Amino acid sequence: MNVLRFDSESAWVQGVSTFWRDRLRTNPHLTICLPTGLTPTPIYADMVRSVRAGQASFAQASIYALDEYGDLAPDDPGRTRNMLLEHLIGHVDLPTDAFRFLDPGIPDIEQQCERYDAAIGHSFDLVLLGIGRNGHLGMNEPGSSADSPTRRVELHDTTIASSARYLKHGNLPRWGITVGLKPILASKEIWLLASGPAKADVIQRTIAGEISEDVPASLLRRHSNCSVFVDAEAGRLL
Ligand code: GLP
Repeated sequence: MNVLRFDSESAWVQGVSTFWRDRLRTNPHLTICLPTGLTPTPIYADMVRSVRAGQASFAQASIYALDEYGDLAPDDPGRTRNMLLEHLIGHVDLPTDAFRFLDPGIPDIEQQCERYDAAIGHSFDLVLLGIGRNGHLGMNEPGSSADSPTRRVELHDTTIASSARYLKHGNLPRWGITVGLKPILASKEIWLLASGPAKADVIQRTIAGEISEDVPASLLRRHSNCSVFVDAEAGRLL
């Protein structure tokens, strides 16, 4: 696991987006899995700026949403699909059919997940991940096995509580669908993103603690091409 530390949040944004532009230049057909949450938002803004400035293009790339909340209305702004559209995909040159997402409204979720994994080809070129304060990746909560496929999951209470940061109502989702740890860990390259003081403790446990399903992010240490991008605050305890 490479740890890349940046002195400020803006240097951290620039660090990630510089690598991302490079990957798109090297492989315009990049298949990318993207998270939501507040962490990647400034990076997405910088990629929108890069596309507008002609420094990057998603015209031949494919983007897959990392997860989706259950029980929210299709137009709820807090849904992963809608957040990705609002912050990145609605403003870049990605073809409409090159954005794939999970739909909790489809009754046969198991079949949908199998199809998603098959469409992915069981791995991505590049996966960007945020991290939950309990070490979750996407919605792979503590206890998720390294072998877990894309599937329906029940959310932990802390994850439910933190979803209130994106939702404008008190109707918090208790379950979701997530890309599993198996396709994530099978991917060619993984970037774990963390910024701000609230992530310092879990980043320290991820990098220096035991490798264990109790902290799903620690399983990334077994991957041969995983980088952790932290700003000074998230990397404070390293
Ligand atoms: C949610 C998302 C994750 C995200 C995490 C952290 O649980 N499902 O993909 O990484 O929140 O969010 P934030 O970046 O807002 O702290």
